[in-house]
Amino acid sequence: MKLRKLGSSGIDASVIAFGAWAIGGWMWGGADEKEAIDAIHAALDNGINLIDTAPIYGFGRSEEIVGKALKGGWRKKAVVASKCGLVWEGTEGIHNFDSSEAIIDGNPRSKYHVYRFLGPKSIRREVENSLKRLGVDVIDVMQTHWQESTTPISETAGELLKLRQEGKIRAIGCSNATPEQMDEYRKVAPLDVDQEKYSMLDLTPEKTNLPYCEKNNVAFFAYSPLAQGLLAGAIGPDRVFSDTDQRAHDERYSIANRKLIMGFLEEIKPVADKHGLTYGQLVAGWTVSQPGCSHALLGARSVKQVIENAKAGSANLDAEDLAAIRKAMDARLANFKD
Ligand SMILES: NC(=O)c1ccc[n+]([C@@H]2O[C@H](COP(=O)([O-])OP(=O)(O)OC[C@H]3O[C@@H](n4cnc5c(N)ncnc54)[C@H](OP(=O)(O)O)[C@@H]3O)[C@@H](O)[C@H]2O)c1
Repeated sequence: MKLRKLGSSGIDASVIAFGAWAIGGWMWGGADEKEAIDAIHAALDNGINLIDTAPIYGFGRSEEIVGKALKGGWRKKAVVASKCGLVWEGTEGIHNFDSSEAIIDGNPRSKYHVYRFLGPKSIRREVENSLKRLGVDVIDVMQTHWQESTTPISETAGELLKLRQEGKIRAIGCSNATPEQMDEYRKVAPLDVDQEKYSMLDLTPEKTNLPYCEKNNVAFFAYSPLAQGLLAGAIGPDRVFSDTDQRAHDERYSIANRKLIMGFLEEIKPVADKHGLTYGQLVAGWTVSQPGCSHALLGARSVKQVIENAKAGSANLDAEDLAAIRKAMDARLANFKD
C-alpha cells in the first residue's frame, strides 16, 4: 500500500481509503453492523489506514460503527477523517433536503430536515458530537462537507483553526468546494485536504480542483471513484437494487448506462489482465495515478470488497497503460449521460 502525505499536516494516509458512507445504511438499502466492523478491521489489516466518514451518513450511524470498530487498539492504526456542515438540529443556514426514509437498521428513526450550516458554534458542537460517536480524543481530518453562503469562510476556517490548536482535530479539509473557496480557507488556516467527486465518469476536477491541489500542496480525496459500483463491473443489467438504495432511482444506473460501462470495461480489460487486476482495482489504480489526485475513497461494505480494494494500493500503471485507458474513455464514455 502506498502512503501519501495529507498536505503539510505530517499525516501519512493510504492512497486507497475506506469510504464509510454505505455502512451508515441510509440511502444504501441498509447495512449490517457486524459485517461493517469486520470490513473496517480487514481494511486496517490490509494496509488501508484512511477511513472517511461523516455525521450525515446514517445520521450518526456510520460514525458510531467506525467508533465501535476502533475500540480495542485499532484506533492507533487509523487516520480518521470526518466532516461537518450538514446538520439536522435547528434551521440555521441553507435548507438542503428533507430525508424521506431515514430508516436505520430497519427502524425508522425520524424524518430529518437537513441544513447546510458552517457557523462556528455549530461546527464546534458537531466536532464534540463526532468525537463522542467515534470514541476518539482527536479527529485526524475535519472537512466541511458542503459549502454554504450564510457564513463567511473566514469564520468557518477560523473556528477550525481554533479546534486544531485545541487538539480536537489535526488537519483541516473542505469538500464540494471551488478553487476560489479554497483560497478563502487558505487565507486563514492551513488547508490540507480537498474532497471532490472524481471518476472516469466525473472528470470536471481535472480542469479545476486537481491542478489547484497539486500546485498548493493540498491532498485530493476522490469520492465515488467507482461510480458507486458501476466502474467496478458490479452493476450488470440483472442487478436489482432495493427501493431504499439511492441507485434504484438514479438514471446513472439505467440499463443503457450499465451496458455502455460493461463495453468500456471490456475495452480496458487487456490493461487489467496485464497487471492481474480486477476492474475495480484498475479503476482505483488509475484514479490515484492522475495528476493531483493523491487518494481515492472507495466505499465498501464487506471484507471481500475491502481486501480486493486494498490491493489497488500497490498497482503500478505506466504511461502506456494510462494512455490506453484514456483512449478507451474518450472513445467509449463520450455518450455516457445521467
Ligand atoms: N464529500 C462528499 O460529498 C461525498 C459524497 C459521496 C461519497 N463520499 C465519500 O466517498 C466514499 C466513496 O464514495 P461512494 O461510496 O459514493 O462510491 P464508490 O466508492 O464509487 O462506490 C462504492 C460502492 O461500490 C461497490 N464496491 C466497492 N468495492 C467493490 C468491489 N471491490 N467489488 C465490487 N463492488 C464494489 C459497493 O457497492 P455495493 O454496496 O452495492 O456492494 C460500494 O458500496 C464514501 O463512502 C464517502 O466516504 C463523499
